[in-house]
Amino acid sequence: CEDSASNLHWHTGAVTAEERTRFLGHGGCTVWLSGLSGSGKSTLACALEQTLLQRGCQAYRLDGDNIRLGLNRDLGFSAADRTENIRRIGEVSKLFADSGCICLTAFISPYRKDRDAVRALHEAAQLRFYEVYVACPLAVAEQRDPKGLYKKARAGQIKCFTGIDDPYEEPEHPELRLDTDSRCVEACVQQVLQMLQRDGVVP
Ligand code: PPS
Repeated sequence: CEDSASNLHWHTGAVTAEERTRFLGHGGCTVWLSGLSGSGKSTLACALEQTLLQRGCQAYRLDGDNIRLGLNRDLGFSAADRTENIRRIGEVSKLFADSGCICLTAFISPYRKDRDAVRALHEAAQLRFYEVYVACPLAVAEQRDPKGLYKKARAGQIKCFTGIDDPYEEPEHPELRLDTDSRCVEACVQQVLQMLQRDGVVP
């Protein structure tokens, strides 16, 4: 079987992006939450999803553990697998954003180049992409340790654990930084909402 992408052609639908926004009442985008394990990504994504839906906006969460239990069950935590994990999620989030949904992603996404590639993917499709750094000192995340993973990593039971013996490259120019050690969930949610309202994504 010949493997040739040159025989594939993008099929454009009958609905323009402007029409979609008008029909749905808000724009689509990806809000990409990145941060250490235990930094608060999933908590914030859940709260944001609830708040946006209550305001009549279509929002949907893609979460690290959930995606790794299904779509990306074949991937581990090597550098190459993390890159492939983020590449696939980037493609999925782009589709959600294109559908008019506010896609909320919660992945460690430790590598800058991988996050930049997802941004480029969105920008090439003229879709909004917001990199949100869920910032939390390692010591605080480790103290929270909601799943007991830091304890296991310190005990050598988990190898290549982000922040312990695997890297996390902090976002250098995120659209937003949320300091979850000093601000409560509701305050962080408001910061994201204000950003989306400022850009006219949500009313
Ligand atoms: S990544 O780096 O973006 O590909 O990771 P992600 O898909 O977000 O998955 C992170 C969740 O997997 C669990 N877990 C680990 N995290 C980091 N390093 C190692 N080695 C590891 N092993 C398992 C952990 O529950 C992460 O979830 P969060 O919500 O971030 O704590």
